[in-house]
Amino acid sequence: MDKKVTVIGAGNVGATAAQRLAEKELCDVVLIDIIEGVPQGKALDLAEAAPIEKHDARLTGANEYDASEGSDIVIITAGIPRKPGMSRDDLLKTNANIMKDVTQQVVQRSPEAVLIIVSNPLDAMCHVAYEASGFPKNRVIGMAGVLDSARFRAFIAMELDVSVENTHAFVLGGHGDTMVPLPRYSTVAGIPITELMPKERIDALVERTATGGAEIVSLLKTGSAYYAPASAAVEMAESILKDKKKILPCAVYLEGEYGINDLFIGVPVKLGAGGVEEIIQISLTAEEQAALDKSAGAVEELVEALKKL
Ligand code: NAI
Ligand code: 2OP
Repeated sequence: MDKKVTVIGAGNVGATAAQRLAEKELCDVVLIDIIEGVPQGKALDLAEAAPIEKHDARLTGANEYDASEGSDIVIITAGIPRKPGMSRDDLLKTNANIMKDVTQQVVQRSPEAVLIIVSNPLDAMCHVAYEASGFPKNRVIGMAGVLDSARFRAFIAMELDVSVENTHAFVLGGHGDTMVPLPRYSTVAGIPITELMPKERIDALVERTATGGAEIVSLLKTGSAYYAPASAAVEMAESILKDKKKILPCAVYLEGEYGINDLFIGVPVKLGAGGVEEIIQISLTAEEQAALDKSAGAVEELVEALKKL
């Protein structure tokens, strides 16, 4: 393939993203993890599926970063989940250290890459990667809104018994309880859902979307969602690799847009070969803007906590 994507973290999200990238034949894929043998084993297993899945993407696994050299995109999923006895700040500190180290390693080998950040807490990890990379803001992008709006779309399709392909949805804000699903801008075949279902049902779907990650955790018990998160990261990568210029909700660094300054937060952006090519500003009602400001406040608290660690 003439494009190369490195995925850091060969766990659930990373390995599934590698699989989707290869099976869509978007690029060659390098999987990197600290655990010896795991990225190599998963990459080989995926390569052995290639004759059946009918793709010629080359897959490599490694523990060293040299294999990532010259990547067009680096998707960072490395991190640890919260363990018993660990506070939110402990997790923040551990994952921030991992993110800083990983980012420094990848940017040395791929100075022109676009970074897609996945590790949680997402918006705070984007700040760490942005600072550690020294990259311009258009090349550090957080994945959350694509996942959150895919969840909203799936729930809309289930509710109305229509094709998911007919649905569009927008979710703004941070990746957490304060995210802001926008029913006014969420449509089925162009028709706003506010015309298609009563307010109580919309409120229920909005609530289910905001707690979508926790719903999966409570079912799986041993981890968090990874099929939809991997699909979301790959949709972003595809738009960049193919210069498709899709408008997708992503966590990006705002400098005044939506009245928010110096903060990564989810808003609609155009993703093309240059990474974030435009931040799309849509008009919000006073209530929507207040919800976005509240969400920005929650992200800001985490970023402040990061500074004190
Ligand atoms: P996982 O535990 O299955 O995989 C994480 C991998 O990172 C492990 O294989 C681990 O060995 C590796 N790792 C840890 N430290 C590393 C280092 N220093 N260098 C390289 N690799 C390292 O976790 P999973 O389910 O894949 O999730 C990954 C991250 O993505 C988590 O932080 C999770 O919360 C986050 N996530 C974010 C979503 C979003 O919407 N932004 C959605 C789903 C997950
Ligand atoms: C999710 O939303 C855990 O952030 C992850 O599923």
